[in-house]
Amino acid sequence: MEVDESVEEEPVPSPVQPPMSRDRVPLQKSSVCSRSYFMVVMVFFHVYIINVIALLFYVHYSNGSSRKEFASSTQHQHRSFDRPVSHERFSRTMHLPRIEGIRVGHVQKVSLVPNKVHEMRTLSLKPLLFEIPGFLTDEECRVVIQLAQLKGLMESQVMVPEGQEELTEQLNLSPEEIFNLLDLNQDNQLQPQEILTHSRVRDGIWLTPENLREIYAGLHADSDGNGLLSLEEFRALSGDAFQSFLKRRGLKRSQLVRNSRHTWLYQGQGTHHVLQDLRKRVTLLTRLPSELVELSEPLQVVRYEQGGHYHGHHDSGPVYPETTCTHTRLATNSTSPFETSCRYITALFYLNSVEGGGETTFPVADNRTYEELSLIQNDVDLLDTRKNCDKGNLRVKPTKGTAVFWYNYLSDGQGWVGEQDEYSLHGGCVVTRGTKWVANNWINVDPDYQRQARYQELVSQQQQEAPGEPSKSSSSQHIDHHVEL
Ligand SMILES: *[C@@H]1O[C@H](CO)[C@@H](O)[C@H](O)[C@H]1NC(C)=O
Ligand SMILES: *[C@@H]1O[C@H](CO)[C@@H](O)[C@H](O)[C@H]1NC(C)=O
Repeated sequence: MEVDESVEEEPVPSPVQPPMSRDRVPLQKSSVCSRSYFMVVMVFFHVYIINVIALLFYVHYSNGSSRKEFASSTQHQHRSFDRPVSHERFSRTMHLPRIEGIRVGHVQKVSLVPNKVHEMRTLSLKPLLFEIPGFLTDEECRVVIQLAQLKGLMESQVMVPEGQEELTEQLNLSPEEIFNLLDLNQDNQLQPQEILTHSRVRDGIWLTPENLREIYAGLHADSDGNGLLSLEEFRALSGDAFQSFLKRRGLKRSQLVRNSRHTWLYQGQGTHHVLQDLRKRVTLLTRLPSELVELSEPLQVVRYEQGGHYHGHHDSGPVYPETTCTHTRLATNSTSPFETSCRYITALFYLNSVEGGGETTFPVADNRTYEELSLIQNDVDLLDTRKNCDKGNLRVKPTKGTAVFWYNYLSDGQGWVGEQDEYSLHGGCVVTRGTKWVANNWINVDPDYQRQARYQELVSQQQQEAPGEPSKSSSSQHIDHHVEL
């Protein structure tokens, strides 16, 4: 399937997930489990984080009765994480420490650099989130920004992807089929939430409830005016009616999921000592095996101009048996349509203090429950970081030199990565004054222990074959992944 990457700026930002989850009622209509539906989904939601969306749909639909049928028809043999361990090649020698949060507000002292003790404060337990003031010195912040500027930054999200209409045509989908697919609760009406969530993941244009009303009015789409689209009303619209309506009006960067520029800085041997120091410090902070940290993505440096934002998202995709990770691609033979980023930890560094706005929001941090459908309610979309940052549960103010870090996955209880932590949902609030500079260090871990171990073995073999260029294979791999524009 030629569905991914070419237009994706980086192989990850896990989407705001569509309003559905594993335990949602299984669909009654068995037709939606067919392969063509799956293809449709893959194509319909092309571009913005297609893989994770596709995966969600796959799991959603294949939970139904025709799972076996689907599996055999695609002849896909999946390596399941929860399969018995009888044929494991690697015994579990690595394990992933997790820092105790104790309780919100708890402060622990950590020793990361000579002659200085840092204080690490627990900000939330769901997700497990910490803040460390003074993690970087002012000088280090300055160097990182300067290195990023020297390297040059690129748009984090390309404006308007092309080519998907043709694909949709090739698949020959009827409006009924698409309608069924979007109608998650199968009430034969499309609620605004159903439209919004799906439209925005389709190509990264962030539809708001107001946009939707304007579109309905402009296209006379909702002829009975009840705020819902029936199949008849939907049928009257062309496949990309919403997007083309907005595009005709002219699309601004502020209407995208993400409005920033970024670049990647390698941190291996031979790079600026500040970058190498930073990586060592992250290793000490997270207490993870240094191989894991060294084989992770390079440092991502991001600049948000005034008006910049990043709407709510997860840094890692959900974990299903079908999930494969971008970083361990080397250890799997085929490219998978379910490839996603597997980022065990996000360490985010604020490189300057922002004059206005630019907080990092965790809208559901330590919420009692988490329900995707509750994220958009009565015109309040908690994922919208241009409008509703003040309504989320937790916001971190960007302060120069401060680091925050959190776990994007829960533990599996056996010292390895478990399920995605849905509470790790976060976003960058709109910058109202000045510029915001941040850097991200992601620690990649494959939830499939065997794959992670095999990957590390492959890398170390390559390093033995090419001594003197220790980090070559891993960094060139990262180059392949990230410089795709
Ligand atoms: C990849 O394919 C080769 C040969 O087809 C096989 O020996 C090897 O086990 C496969 N590796 C993985 C990770 O599936
Ligand atoms: C947050 O928790 C409250 C109380 O359990 C719940 O009503 C609300 O739906 C939750 N929010 C989300 C987004 O799940």
